[in-house]
Amino acid sequence: MAKTPTSRVDKLLSSMGYGSRKEMARLAMAGGITLDDAPLSDVSARIPVTPDLPTRMKIDGAALDPIAGMVILLNKPLGMTCSHKEAGPLVYDSLPARWRRREPAISTIGRLDKQTSGLLLMTDDGELLHRVISPKRHVQKTYRAKLARPLSGKEGVIFASGHMMLDGEDKPLAPAALQVITETEALLTVTEGRYHQVRRMFAATGNHVKDLHRERMGGLTLPADLAPGQWKLLNADEIALIFQ
Ligand code: URA
Repeated sequence: MAKTPTSRVDKLLSSMGYGSRKEMARLAMAGGITLDDAPLSDVSARIPVTPDLPTRMKIDGAALDPIAGMVILLNKPLGMTCSHKEAGPLVYDSLPARWRRREPAISTIGRLDKQTSGLLLMTDDGELLHRVISPKRHVQKTYRAKLARPLSGKEGVIFASGHMMLDGEDKPLAPAALQVITETEALLTVTEGRYHQVRRMFAATGNHVKDLHRERMGGLTLPADLAPGQWKLLNADEIALIFQ
């Protein structure tokens, strides 16, 4: 069985973005850190970092943030960029501000374009991130595309062929499944994550994607009650759904 990791309290809280180790010492002296309802004044104490710590430790009276190993599902609004450093609104702005200072850092699992909305996963677990985006895993991603022009009827066969080439690329796209909703709306399920893939696929058929929204990754669907800009933490069962 894996050994429970331990950490100094000041190091743990600082890595979670609460402040510097000095600031954590000051907060503890002021009674701002409690463990199992008892004030914790010695921040050099080593404690086991168990998954239930957020239910046992309070910082300024509030439950401790989730410990490392979290997966966040965000309903990405239009106009936000999946980047740590670009100018303008970033997807990380949707999360609590101190989470920007967490180590390991939280990153998006793949990207959605600035003008694509919907299901976006973020994590601080590098191993999980690579597992989800690995081409070997074939995690299905389903997008709802609204199109500028009516579908010709040939797109489904082209996308499913396994021979479709995108401009400037030398490897054909893996087969993708098209489900036509109306003549200008379709669901497209792909297993790769190439640059602007869905927009480029429709562009290659002479069409133009006006709106793009990701609804599903693996067996995980964007919850209907999660408004744009809202997020939730995934539990272990929901994380497992990504690979279904
Ligand atoms: N394909 C695109 O073209 N854009 C996205 O954001 C995701 C997939």
